[in-house]
Amino acid sequence: MKQKSILITGGAGFIGSHVVRLLVNKYPDTQFVNLDLLTYAGNLQNIEDVTHKHNYTFVRGDIREADFLQKLFNKYHFDGIIHLAAESHVDRSIENPSAFVETNVIGTVNLLNAAKNLWQNDYKNKLFYHISTDEVYGSLGKTGLFTETTAYDPHSPYSASKAASDHFVRSYHDTYGMPTVISNCSNNYGPNQFPEKLIPLFINNIKHNKPLPVYGDGQYTRDWLYVLDHARAIDIIFDKAKIGETYNVGGFNEYTNIDLIHLLCDLMDEKLLRPKGSSRKLITFVKDRPGHDKRYAIDATKINKELGWKPSVNFEQGLSQTIDWYLKNEVWLNNVTSGDYQKYYNKMYGNR
Ligand code: NAD
Ligand code: DAU
Repeated sequence: MKQKSILITGGAGFIGSHVVRLLVNKYPDTQFVNLDLLTYAGNLQNIEDVTHKHNYTFVRGDIREADFLQKLFNKYHFDGIIHLAAESHVDRSIENPSAFVETNVIGTVNLLNAAKNLWQNDYKNKLFYHISTDEVYGSLGKTGLFTETTAYDPHSPYSASKAASDHFVRSYHDTYGMPTVISNCSNNYGPNQFPEKLIPLFINNIKHNKPLPVYGDGQYTRDWLYVLDHARAIDIIFDKAKIGETYNVGGFNEYTNIDLIHLLCDLMDEKLLRPKGSSRKLITFVKDRPGHDKRYAIDATKINKELGWKPSVNFEQGLSQTIDWYLKNEVWLNNVTSGDYQKYYNKMYGNR
């Protein structure tokens, strides 16, 4: 790794925590600062094991605050940024779009400005890496895949805010010559995902014999990728990507929601030693999500050919491991669902 001081934003969240663990352990000579506001989705328990590493610092702070960011950049002299902090849940964006503009758009522009001010046109060995989503491309029909040149067509306030942030990142490359890279990834699953997203929500509900709310007819398709495979892709992109480029990251693993839910239900029956078919009885079709994109599917050929990355985890195995993690980590699940996490934070870290 060329950069010696790296800022990771959102490193206490789902994907960010896996990225922090991978990079802090893999690059002991590089200093990593994890900047995270610890919203409901951020949880220091996700990265407890790296807390005391010599090359790791946690800072609680808000990317919406430009002055705070500038001070942070002046203090640590970052030469690389891996930007994951975001409001990330589509349903919440439908309830409160403004929060998504503030964090995802303004927060990203604040980070770009702080980097631009610090680097002052000396961009040697510098990199601003922005993590984005396949949702910016909108929805596919029955066939076809999203490539890096697919036109943007976001439909939810979440995807609109991510699309806007992508455009700002590209504009700083084109206008100011800032070295930037963007990756757009499909749906991640795995340990430490907040139980508002489909897979952890349904695992938790099955465990407690609660209804499984399937939006619309359940015939929506997503392309699922194990979170550690995404973290590996982020490492490779940060290290080897061509400046100014975009890389699509995906699992080559399409499932309709209902097929995935059936598989999840059957695995849960086995693991909880319940009669076969009992979890499927919890399935309840509910009102559809407004603006619901029909199908996402990524063509990840470019990252495979140019950077040598491909997914390594088979979906059924990954899903089975994920269920095992949630069943084993009952305390984690109870804390994030009960609000006790804030007490944990204050006890461990005071009011920093
Ligand atoms: P997450 O919601 O689990 O985590 C987001 C993190 O950002 C949290 O730790 C939160 O505390 C932090 N954060 C939020 N607002 C902040 C602010 N104002 N200042 C500082 N920190 C703040 O999200 P995730 O699922 O880990 O996603 C991470 C990134 O990857 C996001 O940019 C998301 O758009 C992108 N992405 C996610 C997926 C997916 O399937 N989860 C797929 C593709 C891309
Ligand atoms: O595609 C990448 C995106 O994947 C990321 O950018 C987002 O941050 C991430 O949240 C995810 O977005 P989705 O909207 O696809 O994920 P979610 O888990 O919310 O929903 C997956 C599918 O399941 C979607 O078609 C909606 C459906 N669903 C979801 C929930 C929470 C249900 O049917 N019922 C539910 O209760």
